[in-house]
This record gives sequence, C-alpha cells and structure tokens, in this order.
Amino acid sequence: MQVERIRVLLVEDDPSQMALVEAILQREKGVVFEVKTADLLSAAFKPLREEQIDIVLLDLSLPDSHGIDTFLKVREVTCHTPVIVLTGNDDEELALEILRRGAQDYLFKGTVDGPLLVRAIRYSIYRILSERNLEEQRTRHRLLMEGIPDVRIYFKDAGGHFLEVNHAMANFHGFNDPREVVGLTDYDLFSRAHADEAARDERQIVNSGQPLVGKMEKETDQEGKVTWALTTKMPLQDGTGRNAGIVGISRDITDLKTTEERLWSALEEVTKSHEELSETQLLLIQAEKLRSLGQMAASVAHEVKNPLAILKMGIECLGEHCFQENEQISGLVGEMKGAVHRAEGIIRDMLDYSAAHELELREVCVNSLIERTLTFVRHELAKGRVRVVTDLPEGLSSCRLDAPKIEQVFINVFTNACHAMPDGGELTIATSEKLVESDDPEMEGDNGHPVRFRRGDKVVAVTIRDTGTGIPEDKLPKIFDPFFTTKDLGEGSGLGLAVVKKIIDLHQGKISIVNAEGGGVLVTVELKCFSGS
Ligand SMILES: Nc1ncnc2c1ncn2[C@@H]1O[C@H](COP(=O)(O)OP(=O)(O)OP(=O)(O)O)[C@@H](O)[C@H]1O
Ligand SMILES: [Mg+2]
Repeated sequence: MQVERIRVLLVEDDPSQMALVEAILQREKGVVFEVKTADLLSAAFKPLREEQIDIVLLDLSLPDSHGIDTFLKVREVTCHTPVIVLTGNDDEELALEILRRGAQDYLFKGTVDGPLLVRAIRYSIYRILSERNLEEQRTRHRLLMEGIPDVRIYFKDAGGHFLEVNHAMANFHGFNDPREVVGLTDYDLFSRAHADEAARDERQIVNSGQPLVGKMEKETDQEGKVTWALTTKMPLQDGTGRNAGIVGISRDITDLKTTEERLWSALEEVTKSHEELSETQLLLIQAEKLRSLGQMAASVAHEVKNPLAILKMGIECLGEHCFQENEQISGLVGEMKGAVHRAEGIIRDMLDYSAAHELELREVCVNSLIERTLTFVRHELAKGRVRVVTDLPEGLSSCRLDAPKIEQVFINVFTNACHAMPDGGELTIATSEKLVESDDPEMEGDNGHPVRFRRGDKVVAVTIRDTGTGIPEDKLPKIFDPFFTTKDLGEGSGLGLAVVKKIIDLHQGKISIVNAEGGGVLVTVELKCFSGS
C-alpha cells in the first residue's frame, strides 16, 4: 500500500455527492487519489474482492442496502480494507455501533469538508498500517516463542519473576499453560544453589547491560534431577530504555552432554586398552626375543662345548708333559688354560640359561648355601678388598631348593657386587623370614610357571647389599636381559643375571635389584619356605 497514491472505492448512489467527493479528493496536493465508484452495494463487491483498494468511503443508504447492514456486508467481503462511513444520517448511536464493529471513522456528509476528509483517510490508512505492523510483530513474536520446540524462552523482571515464558519452558517444568509460570522465580523451580547462581548472573546482566552468552549450565530441579542447558541471557529494557529485567534462551543439551560423557569414557577406555595392548605387545616381543636368544645360545654352547673339551685336554697334556722347563711356553700354556676356563664358564652360563631344567629339589637351609657360596668366592672377595658382613640368624625355616643352582645365583650376585667395588667396599648379606601379607597379582614367569606368593605364605628373604657404583636408572630395566653387560669385552658375557632370574623363576621365587639409599645396589631374593617345615 502506497500512501502517496491512494486507491479509493467510493460507494455512493447520489451522483452530486459522488462528484463532490471526487472533486474534493482531486484538489488535494501531494497525494494522488485514484477514485473508483460504485452506486450500488452489489457493484462494490467485485472491486473489493479483485482489486487493490486502500480505503472504502461508504454511504450507508444505498438502493440495495441500508444502515448498519451496508457496513456489515462490506466487512464480510473484506475485513482488512479500512472503511470510512460517509453518511447523511447524523445518528450518534449508529456511529458508535459502526465504529465498535471496526469502521475507521464515521463522517456526516453535512459537515465534511476537503481537509477533514483527506485527514480522515490518511489517519485511517496509517492506523490500519500500524495495526498490521503490530499484528505482524505479534506473529513473529509468537513464532519465535513457540516455533522452536526444544528451546526455553523467558522474560523476567529485575526481581527474577517470570513475566512471560513459552510452552517449552512451561512443559519443561511440568505446567501445561505458560501463564502458570508467570510470577514464579527460579527458586520455585530449581534447587537453591542453581537459583542463587542464576540470580547472581542476572543481577550482573541488569547492572552491566552486558549479555551472558552460551553458558553451559548444570541445572538441578527441586527433586534433585539434573539437566544441562546452553543459556544466553540479555538485558530487557523498559519503555524508558532502563534495564528492567532479562530475556533468556536456554536450549536443553542433556542428551548431548550424556553422549559427550559416554564418548569421553569410551575414549578413556580405548586409550587405556591401547596402552595395555602396547605393553603386552612389548612384553611379547621381549619374550620372543629372549626365547630366540635362548635357542641360539643353546645351539652355540652345544657346538662349542666339545671342541672346548678337546682343547682343554690338549692344553693340560701340553702343560704336564712337554714344556715344563720352558718358562715362556709354560706361561703361555697357563694363559691358555685360563682362557679355556673362562670360555667354559660362559658356555655353562649359556646352557644354564637356555636349557629346559628339571630342578632337583631337596630341603635345605638358605643360610648354609650362602656360607658355602662365600667360600667359593672368598678368594675373589679378598683380592677385591671387599669386607663381608653377614647376618644369618639361626633357626631359619628351610626351603625346597636345587642347591647347586641357588648357589650359582649367589655366586653371580656376589661376583657382580665385587666387580662394582673396584676399590674395595662392604658386602652385607642378611636373611630373614616373613609372612606374605597379601596375594600377588597373577603373572607369568619366563618359563611359563605362574609366579605368585599368596597371603599367609612363609618366605625367606635374602638381602645382599654392596657399597659399589650402583646401576644407572636407565640401565636398570635391562639388567636381566641376556648379554646385557656394561663390562669390557672379555670381562663379562652379560649372562649372569639372566641365569639368576631364570633359576629364581624356576623356583617360583622373586628377585628385585634396586639402587640402595646412600649408594650401591640392594638385591633381594625371596624363596618360599618348605610348607612341611
Ligand atoms: N651389584 C652391581 N652393581 C653395579 N652394577 C651391577 C651390579 N650387578 C649387576 N650390575 C650391572 O648389570 C650388568 C649385568 O650383569 P650380569 O651379571 O648379567 O652380567 P655381567 O656381570 O656384565 O657379565 P657376566 O655374564 O660375567 O655376569 C652388569 O654389566 C652391570 O652393569
Ligand atoms: Mg655378572
């Protein structure tokens, strides 16, 4: 509708009146009136239905209709087009009734002049335009409030009272009619803690004029039910521009949050099992590596053993018969003997490590094995200026052990300690007995035997402590690996602790090697006591 160009339908049966009104309208400057006329009410219906008419000027007394009926029939055809009644009947009551029924104005022909008529037309059009705008705004407001089903929208005054809420909000709190929520506050709907927090946020918004955007809110209702919402609140201004409350929009994201939480815990589980898998994979690789090393060691040892025995016999024969007088040669033979002896040691270690063993178990006291072993290494300890301190209490429970193998464990551990103290030192060996306090977790030993102490088992613990160099932390995880050595070529094969571990595993015992507080290494060997003792 264009105000500057106004299309008028003039319904009038009096030709002189018709001409008068047309003349009045044509005279008007600044506005172009396009006037269409109808001298019967029935003649007005077609243009009303089919054409764009901005305003109707309606005489109530027509040949085919009279009084208020004329107006009501026009209204039946169009309820949007503004109608000004222009009549010779100056009836105040009728005027009021017609205005009540929706006419824009009621003008008495006798008093109408040009400016009055034009003003009435203009006001009517503007009024209808604003009403239409208002109605459109109301429709948009309704659409916004009710069109999005999962979004709660609410208006509150500065005291936190709901002024208006949508159906989604009312339904969320168990009301059918949004009007039931009007006048309530968050304290009537949520837990006190949540209502306090919301009130704090809203005070801040009203005071600062700044909106609160996208706050993830954990809401707890009065029964303790928890929901999650993504909330935006902004200041609501009154007619004077003052912040008089807030308007809030909350979208329920409980499902999203639950899914997110499930995803996080699934991710955690996946990460955990991935880590476990990697650890298992490493263990498998390690086990496989050790197995193939063991097989290789066994075949090498087996192949070398016989030629070595022949060499040994030959050297002994040479030493005894041929070159006793020749000092140089007999020195050389002595060195050869030493070398063969070392090689035999390595071969024995390799075979001990790799061959499948049947243990020959018998009941022995660990203290006596330690004392025997000390006599074997006495010479080496004395040469290395190592002082031995023992604490081997009497009456220690006996264990079922393969004595030579356990002796070999102690020989290897004592020898390592001796090598770690090149400038001498102290070797402290102590035994004690203890009861296991809790079950060990199940684990597989290298040989496939489960290694596990149970709660209540009685064990003998042997601690061997030296005052040597200690073991660098990064090397600690490798010391039981076969062929791991930090010693120079020819001084150590790196099989000593691998053999030790193997023997302890075969006995279903435990061994730990750590750096001792204050320096040196602390080795702890634990062996189950003989249950018959
Ligand atoms: N008491 C200790 N103090 C310091 N380092 C030690 C001690 N015991 C073992 N180690 C470290 O562990 C490594 C492996 O020891 P292991 O007994 O298996 O082999 P090795 O002594 O080097 O050679 P061998 O086969 O002759 O025993 C050693 O080379 C050494 O670095
Ligand atoms: Mg060693």
